[in-house]
Amino acid sequence: PRSEFVSELMSKMTVDEKIGQLNLPTSGDITTGQANSSNVAKNIEEGKVGGLFNIKSVQKIKEVQKIAVEKSRLKIPLLFGMDVIHGYETTFPIPLGLSCIWDMKAIERSAQIAAKEASADGINWTFSPMVDISRDPRWGRVSEGSGEDPYLGSEIAKAMVNGYQQHDLSKNNTILSCVKHFALYGAPEAGRDYNTVDMSKIRMYNEYFPPYKAAVDAGVGSVMASFNEVDGIPATGSKWLMTDVLRKEWGFKGFVVTDYTGIPEMIDHGMGDLQTVSALALNAGVEMDMVGEGFLTTLKKSLAENKVSMAQLDNAVRLILEAKYDLGLFEDPYKYCDPKRAKTEIFTASHRAEARKIASQSLVLLKNENQFLPLKKSGTIAVIGPLADAKENMPGTWSVATNMKTAISLLAGIKDVAGKSTNVLYAKGSNLDYDAEFEKNATMFGKTLYRDDRTKEELLAEALKVASQSDVIVAAIGESAEMSGESSSRTNLEIPQAQKDLLQALLKTGKPVVVVLFDGRPLVIKEESETVPAILNVWFAGSEAGHAIADVLFGDENPSGKLTSTFPRSVGQVPIYYNQKNTGRPLVNKEGKFEKFRSNFIDERNEPLYAFGYGLSYTTFDYSNLKISSDKMNFTGKLNVTVDVTNTGNFDGKEVVQLYIRDLVGSVTRPVRELKGFQKIDLKKGEKRTVNFEITVEDLKFYNSDLKFIAEPGQFDVFVGTDSNAEKKVSFELIK
Ligand code: IFM
Repeated sequence: PRSEFVSELMSKMTVDEKIGQLNLPTSGDITTGQANSSNVAKNIEEGKVGGLFNIKSVQKIKEVQKIAVEKSRLKIPLLFGMDVIHGYETTFPIPLGLSCIWDMKAIERSAQIAAKEASADGINWTFSPMVDISRDPRWGRVSEGSGEDPYLGSEIAKAMVNGYQQHDLSKNNTILSCVKHFALYGAPEAGRDYNTVDMSKIRMYNEYFPPYKAAVDAGVGSVMASFNEVDGIPATGSKWLMTDVLRKEWGFKGFVVTDYTGIPEMIDHGMGDLQTVSALALNAGVEMDMVGEGFLTTLKKSLAENKVSMAQLDNAVRLILEAKYDLGLFEDPYKYCDPKRAKTEIFTASHRAEARKIASQSLVLLKNENQFLPLKKSGTIAVIGPLADAKENMPGTWSVATNMKTAISLLAGIKDVAGKSTNVLYAKGSNLDYDAEFEKNATMFGKTLYRDDRTKEELLAEALKVASQSDVIVAAIGESAEMSGESSSRTNLEIPQAQKDLLQALLKTGKPVVVVLFDGRPLVIKEESETVPAILNVWFAGSEAGHAIADVLFGDENPSGKLTSTFPRSVGQVPIYYNQKNTGRPLVNKEGKFEKFRSNFIDERNEPLYAFGYGLSYTTFDYSNLKISSDKMNFTGKLNVTVDVTNTGNFDGKEVVQLYIRDLVGSVTRPVRELKGFQKIDLKKGEKRTVNFEITVEDLKFYNSDLKFIAEPGQFDVFVGTDSNAEKKVSFELIK
């Protein structure tokens, strides 16, 4: 029935109406949703719009949908998209933080709640998940991805798509997902946003493509093209990416949308004029033009000049109409416009409670000397720093639908959780930075910035006074939300100098200091890691951030987050990632001593400050008895790897048990280790559990130099432990 319905509808459409379906304008302002009063409304009436994004609220969306279904000739309903990236009004941690949970059920649940809230407010399409692998924290958008690992990234991509779509788009509380940015957006040269990407195909297939493919395998309904070029052709115009890989190899059946003005940007890439680049995009296999109006204004001419075919246009229209059909919009264009749902299902107490729990698990305890944490709920605590009382900073980048004012600041969270028997003092201590340029310019969503007009000396004097009255200092420092995210690349990954100076002054008081580190990327905190007794990395943890951080600081929740992105010792090590190649001249000495003519630096060690998979708990876990069921496996067989994990500390806790494999010899060079399994387990204090992993040939496959996905016979090492440096090892041979 879907294909008949769509064919029937298409038989009535003029060429202009067909082209109109490929057009995706923005409504203008995200919160005011001005579509109705702008020329977008006129275009909708004339059948020149297929969908709209950045419009919020049932009432506004209903008004606009009404124009489409009552005033346009064919009454085709619109798609309504939004960047629902890590929650809707109830926000969850930024995706990089969320990935540190290593709990796929919790991640899926966060997307399910996001879909429920967005769909209750009129939205039926989200531009999420972003699954771009990145190994370069200079790139601001590492905050929006799931880190550096293709295996974990693929699991998360699947969980997110399933969370949004729930395998059933006909329900009114699921929404169409859009995996982005296809492809390789996370690998721009120098980490500079939108910059050139150039990499070998074998690396694309093995290390960067898997999460996009996992989203396609999970049935994602749409794909967003990336801004960057791939192999010399902007992704938006790449037939190889959009047709050969995405459709022919992976079997993608949905539609592709450009990123914002992705088509006209190909003019600046040097691919030709608007007509040429628009035809290039359509012929490549792109169906929808976000904001660029290249399709709208040039495709008719290109059809007349045979630069694009009617078949190509029809195919694009069909895919978009099919998505609308799958969402049930033809049956009921107002399916997502139920004011009752909008009143009762958004930012509910139960969603916030779940967000708090999830957020607490995204925090990564980087250092905890002499079990400094958890803090006691007594005495006097000084909460000091420019990010301490900054609730607008909590949700993080791309929190477009949320009401920043409702977020819980760290200070508020500490006051709530510490209770009446604790005295909580506050001082701002410093501005984010001395150089306020980015503070002035960072107005992406017009969010409040935190500039204080007092002098550095005045701010510091107030902080020291407060510190002197306290038993312990919580220093809330790091990046503001605007310092990561889109177009926020950095060359210096340290905490801004004004805050470093504040921290040093606080340490000099001799009072115990815990750093609560806010960031949207791995920062370079070598100095702080040497001087501060405890560091809790908190990312931007969403609406309930302040409560979640306080829950962890006071031990109501035991931290369990594990890094998904390597923390470098210095920016010069970047790109740095655990699943590197060995090279022909690896550095073998364990002390990291410099050796001439080996692959290392004269001024820095090779290993990172904090490795992939790393994260402390208030308790300790002991690994023992690692066993493998056989030292041989054939191509149809399987092996069991078991390990005993014991909670040897004084708290109940969660541990992420990680399994890495090394393929010792290959027809192409293989990484020194690759994550191939993980399990997050709960262990009561003193409890011991045997954890079981299964290995099959699928875990051993990789793309060879012919880009064939194969496993090769030979010897493999298996490492199991608490992070990517796990040393316990068993081995086996894959035999024919
Ligand atoms: O979805 C985003 C994308 O990630 C970056 N450019 C704008 C799009 C729509 O807001």
